[in-house]
Amino acid sequence: MTFQDRVFSGMQPTGTLHLGNYLGAMVQWIEMQKSHECIYCVVDLHAITVWQDPAELKTSIRQVTAAYIASGLDPKRSIVFNQSQVPEHAELAWIFNCVARLGWLNRMTQFKEKAGKDREAASVGLYAYPNLMAADILAYRATHVPVGDDQKQHLELARDIAQKFNSDFRSSIEQKGYADGVFFPQPEPVITGPATRVMSLRDGTKKMSKSEPSDMSRINLMDDTDTIADKIKRAKTDMEPAPPATLDDLRARPEIDNLVGIYAALAGVTKEDGLSLLASTAGEGPSIFTGFKRALTEVAVEKLGPIRSEIVRLMADPAEIDRVLADGARRARAIATPVMDEVKDIVGFIRG
Ligand code: TYM
Repeated sequence: MTFQDRVFSGMQPTGTLHLGNYLGAMVQWIEMQKSHECIYCVVDLHAITVWQDPAELKTSIRQVTAAYIASGLDPKRSIVFNQSQVPEHAELAWIFNCVARLGWLNRMTQFKEKAGKDREAASVGLYAYPNLMAADILAYRATHVPVGDDQKQHLELARDIAQKFNSDFRSSIEQKGYADGVFFPQPEPVITGPATRVMSLRDGTKKMSKSEPSDMSRINLMDDTDTIADKIKRAKTDMEPAPPATLDDLRARPEIDNLVGIYAALAGVTKEDGLSLLASTAGEGPSIFTGFKRALTEVAVEKLGPIRSEIVRLMADPAEIDRVLADGARRARAIATPVMDEVKDIVGFIRG
């Protein structure tokens, strides 16, 4: 069968969103809602795979929802909700726990990074995290998943799970009238934003991340103008005497490459344009990047300032955010419940 195009993606409500989330995923989400049926989730079940303070979690869920809307998601057009209000995610995840193999999960690099050295102390949820992610997508039989580059491996696993489910239950799926034995689609990763891998401002070889202890390593959507200016001013560059002249030169200098990439993505120009700006603003000696950093600050403040003000405005009315989430959850369930009913039949459960 052919599947109707449907987009699903999500972000974790752990603290505020940062520039990596915005450029790596959000920009693409906003673009896709113009042409597709889109479902955007605040993945609170994923968040608790590491400890979350309950009061802070509630605030983060609302703040991430506000950030979605402030960035340009329209909750009337797209479905916006928090994961825990739709029980089908957890239900399908259990079934996928029984489909996915230990060997598959053992290969997940993000688990290794997040669990660190003391793997014995990591939660079981953190280990099974990719199965829940597959359930998020497949509970809607979604076909396209816009994400940053770091989610590629998780999406490959979701594709493997879809395929194994289809093949394990092939005859049962056929009996339900799916002549080709395909119940779940193979969800396509869409990794095409303007900056699919935004790096730390302190280390051009590490990705920008919420879990990095130094706040100076990232620009948050909630940072004010002075904070953004300060972080860019202090962003690491290198000791070379001249700015890179070609894209090849640029690639060999990760910190500068990252700043040029961020500039290009925010300004809506190419990296070549960023290189020209580097050349035309280059100062002498230690101030070689000062002019470029000033231009970068300007465009960052111009883009992010209005988003921040809108988040603050929306957060002043938490009841309204909760209403948006409840409405989104109701619409999400209208899609996920019938899918889950079919899954139960396919697996061989009895439904009342
Ligand atoms: P999360 O919350 O870590 O990140 C949300 C989105 O932001 C992207 N991203 C980045 N992109 C570019 N550069 C960066 N430095 C950067 N940091 C984060 C991520 O790739 C992601 O698209 N497992 C997911 C959430 C999730 C999900 C899903 C996504 C749960 N279920 C189903 C898609 C479909 C995560 O932890 O994203």
